[in-house]
Amino acid sequence: MIGRLNHVAIAVPDLAAATANYRDGLGAKVSAPQDLPEHGVTVVFVELPNTKIELLHPLGANSPIAAFLEKNPAGGMHHVCFDVDDIIKARDHLKAAGKRVLGDGEPKIGAHNKPVLFLHPKDFSGTLVEIEQA
Ligand code: CO
Repeated sequence: MIGRLNHVAIAVPDLAAATANYRDGLGAKVSAPQDLPEHGVTVVFVELPNTKIELLHPLGANSPIAAFLEKNPAGGMHHVCFDVDDIIKARDHLKAAGKRVLGDGEPKIGAHNKPVLFLHPKDFSGTLVEIEQA
């Protein structure tokens, strides 16, 4: 069911500093910052040969990553995202396996304009997992 690693998302308190780290320190190709108001984040995409890193910074008053950064003021890994072929099949399979799907269980359109769902971190070794329809 699970496909390739789509991205690893890292919440950062200083987006410009984190972007410079990846660009200048690691020599990575980085995008311009993009505001995604419907997701409450500003994101920089770091393009790697085999996957992406997404640097997430809170946008607006009710950002879903604000509480995470309060607990992790230096930033930290926020979630991993895996491709799936069919998100509804994947969701139903996960639910049947006793895994908790966050929210109302209906896919939302994610940062790449594709349907995504999030899975409860307690069901995946303390890691928030996103699945995205490839
Ligand atoms: Co993501």
